[in-house]
Amino acid sequence: MADERSHTGRSPNDRKMAPPRPVAGEEQSGEQKVDHALRPRSLQEMIGQNQLRDKMQILVEAARKREETLDHVLLYGPPGLGKTTLSHILANEMGGNLKVTAGPAIEKAGDLAAILTNLRKGDVLFIDEIHRLGRAVEEILYPAMEDFALDIVVGSGPGARNIRLNLPKFTIVGATTRLALITAPLRARFGVVERFDFYEVEAIQQIITRAAQLLNVTMDADAAEEIARRARGTPRVGLRLLRRVRDYALVRANGHIEKSVAEEALSLMLQIDWLGLDDLDKRVLEALIKKFNGGPVGLETLAASISEEADTIMDVVEPYLLQLGFLDRTPRGRVATRAAYNHIGIAYPERPEQPGLFDNSVRVA
Ligand SMILES: Nc1ncnc2c1ncn2[C@@H]1O[C@H](COP(=O)(O)OP(=O)(O)O)[C@@H](O)[C@H]1O
Ligand SMILES: [Mg+2]
Repeated sequence: MADERSHTGRSPNDRKMAPPRPVAGEEQSGEQKVDHALRPRSLQEMIGQNQLRDKMQILVEAARKREETLDHVLLYGPPGLGKTTLSHILANEMGGNLKVTAGPAIEKAGDLAAILTNLRKGDVLFIDEIHRLGRAVEEILYPAMEDFALDIVVGSGPGARNIRLNLPKFTIVGATTRLALITAPLRARFGVVERFDFYEVEAIQQIITRAAQLLNVTMDADAAEEIARRARGTPRVGLRLLRRVRDYALVRANGHIEKSVAEEALSLMLQIDWLGLDDLDKRVLEALIKKFNGGPVGLETLAASISEEADTIMDVVEPYLLQLGFLDRTPRGRVATRAAYNHIGIAYPERPEQPGLFDNSVRVA
């Protein structure tokens, strides 16, 4: 990038210094091991995402009955909802090995060719952040996914020839937080494209309760519900909040997590409100309401007004605010809803001409 200082006037360093948000869906340092230990291993063990799980069950059983490998699967949705977990589960269920890589990690076409030639029949290759594959790399993937073939050029100059290597039948599971950035030819090569939705509070509560048992922590049911409600429908956030609350309970309350301890830890220590909103979410809502009269305002303008990156707002703030019904996306920009005004504690302006009424009926993705 040419401009090191972004349009927000913040240097990249400022961002590096910012403490990680407890409510962020992305994996944070040190979490990989514990995340891994808490992962469900089979479709049966997976909690929530019932529709998705049922579809996967049918897919797996059908492939087993036909004694074929699984179709290529593309999973998309916000971070922390279980895409990586499901890829492990699919490999397990099919009895294949799982090989894990990520879009940015495959730099050259040859890197991918090396990975592909090492796969065995029935293996699952998980490609995280698949929207970040380079173009030359992606083109290797097309014949590999479609025909299980690798086209390579041998020699150079006039003597160069194309040869086609056959690959064993394998399954690609791709994951992305940005479906819109997947090219049409790549997307077309996935037989199954499935979205992860935010989880219900009850499902997160179950996930947390199971994890507490595995971590040897005792917790009351209403405390689990309290943590779950603030986890933004995201298992990874729920599990992180559980660990933070556990630490707090150890120091302040002999280790047992009861509701009042959970509330204290979440509100006072972590500054997460009863719906799971933190300071950044509130700054976005307040800017939208106070500086832009509730919108509509463009994402870039809104982000710049609070010195944040538009991408940050789009990836880690908006999805949950949309889910809560606090935000609407209209062709003319973002609009705060009545529920958002209520939550922030500002009276909703009854506009005589109702400018939002017309625009809101046309939603854009
Ligand atoms: N359905 C689920 N049931 C139980 N735990 C889950 C479920 N989905 C995700 N998790 C937990 O949440 C964590 C984050 O999931 P992960 O698959 O890494 O998310 P993603 O790849 O979508 O960012 C995992 O470590 C796992 O422990
Ligand atoms: Mg992942």
